[in-house]
Amino acid sequence: MQNSDFSSHLLKWYQYHKRPMPWRDEPDPYKIWISEIMLQQTRVDQATPYFRNFISLFPTVFELANADQQQVLKAWEGLGYYSRARNLHAAAKMVVQEYDGKLPESYTEIIKLKGIGPYTAAAVTSIAFNKPNAVVDGNVIRVLTRYFGIEDDTRSTKTRNKVQEFANKLIDYDRPGDFNQALMELGSEVCTPSNPDCENCPIQTGCVASKMAKTDIIPYKSPA
Ligand code: ADE
Repeated sequence: MQNSDFSSHLLKWYQYHKRPMPWRDEPDPYKIWISEIMLQQTRVDQATPYFRNFISLFPTVFELANADQQQVLKAWEGLGYYSRARNLHAAAKMVVQEYDGKLPESYTEIIKLKGIGPYTAAAVTSIAFNKPNAVVDGNVIRVLTRYFGIEDDTRSTKTRNKVQEFANKLIDYDRPGDFNQALMELGSEVCTPSNPDCENCPIQTGCVASKMAKTDIIPYKSPA
């Protein structure tokens, strides 16, 4: 399967299977940013009500920047990992002070903001600004190690870098945001850790792990 087939099969599948999420098809970079911070350690169905509440309290980056830290932490109550909320608040102030309230569009600028690492920088710039930055999270690692038959330890940085390189090559330059979200969605809905639904996978014909019956040993993760 060629890269263009990988992408067209995946995007076609996504068109029919994407779950409705309140930040999807949202052109507002601020909302995309909030959603991606929430989704770092929280599942979509869990994060959704928090997202709605957060946006009603702080509809734009200006309200967030002007809020008291206590209000922000209160809105985060139940999500855990409070450093995410503190960093988000600090970053909102910086966006207002240094970028006139507009989130920077480039990967190298946005990654300078507190709480924005490689994952979030790629997710936000691709989804909100159509930049071809490939996202690599746990779901993407599982899909791509299986697809390419990568049996290396996914705990190692070297393996993650390898997966990042494959993702960079595969990403769809016309629809990078949809491509990234489709790959994450595929990992969460079809290419699941156990009992993946290979029969309903849009990229199954090219998948090494599926062909070799190795989905139970890939991805490999060494004991901690
Ligand atoms: N996980 C984190 N961000 C996501 C997104 N935008 N779509 C699907 N899964 C995700």
